[in-house]
Amino acid sequence: MKDIYCLAIESSCDETSMSIIKNGIEEIETVTNTQIDIHKSFGGVVPEIASRSHIENVTIVLDELFQRSKISMSDIDIIGVTYGPGLIGSLMIGLQCAKTISLVTGKPLIPVHHIAGHIYANNLEKRLEFPLIALVVSGGHTDLVYMKEDYSFKKIGSTLDDAVGEAYDKVAKVCGLEYPGGPLVDKLSKLGRDTYDLPMPLDDDSYNFSFSGIKSAVINVIHNEMQRGNEIRVNDMCNSFQERVVSVIVKKTMRALSEYNVNNLVLAGGVAANSYLRERLEEETNKNNINFSYPKIKYCTDNAAMIGAAAYYAYQKGKIADLTLNAVAVDTLYNEE
Ligand code: KG4
Ligand code: ZN
Repeated sequence: MKDIYCLAIESSCDETSMSIIKNGIEEIETVTNTQIDIHKSFGGVVPEIASRSHIENVTIVLDELFQRSKISMSDIDIIGVTYGPGLIGSLMIGLQCAKTISLVTGKPLIPVHHIAGHIYANNLEKRLEFPLIALVVSGGHTDLVYMKEDYSFKKIGSTLDDAVGEAYDKVAKVCGLEYPGGPLVDKLSKLGRDTYDLPMPLDDDSYNFSFSGIKSAVINVIHNEMQRGNEIRVNDMCNSFQERVVSVIVKKTMRALSEYNVNNLVLAGGVAANSYLRERLEEETNKNNINFSYPKIKYCTDNAAMIGAAAYYAYQKGKIADLTLNAVAVDTLYNEE
């Protein structure tokens, strides 16, 4: 079969990333420009600044990608692009770039859902095996997804309020840590102990999650301690928060695997970089003979390599967009069967 080279573009949040992926599995080259340092001083991503920065970077990243990869545009077979969900202004820059290239070259334009990309980041390590359960944990999502085959997504549970990464970032912020705080909470929690009496996040029979209660509890404890002039034990707070959040995620994930009679688990999204979550899932899946895979750290947070991996399978399923393709802020992935 002929090799398929995908030029992939991702710009849904604060990373302008482009990649060339062969056959949905092999990364040829990726160039990513991250805006983290720009947004740090605001304590979070400022959408207007993010889109302006994408505009400044989009052609620079594209040029560098082709220079580094030694591949030319004529070698490219398909153009994969994130169309949503994400920040509309940011998405539109990557989308416009992809549409322009598709128009000029006549190459097919493949619309990729950002979360499908996160799941397919695992395919860059090892070919996905089906059926599988994907645990998607990012700054915008906390979903349990059942996949019976390639590019078929059935959401079986989701967060009812904050995404887990969002809760990590807010807890980090009230603890006085820099944006994005998730990796710091992960790191500091190793230096602390579970000494704060925080409530358990939603621990019921559903596959849904809720993190706003524990997040508010952290904020209240910190405000009360500060009012009393007491010192906050940040490492302990990180540990107590992480212990409860990870415990409930692991518990519901393991139950989903058992109830759906599935032997394959893949972890996806920015929070897939969390060392404690990986460790706990590794332990549980080992005990239960489940194949567990998670992406390399560089494929956990937003990147175009994962979009190129997903685009290949979307293409196989005939998902080709025309130039009316629009950016969407909402979730449409789970309509894709
Ligand atoms: O997937 P991603 O790059 O962007 C979205 O699509 O949302 O995820 C970013 C999120 C942020 O909330 C960040 O704090 C979190 O992933 N994150 C982590 C870790 N590394 C990144 N959260 C907990 N532990 C980590 N090690
Ligand atoms: Zn993401």
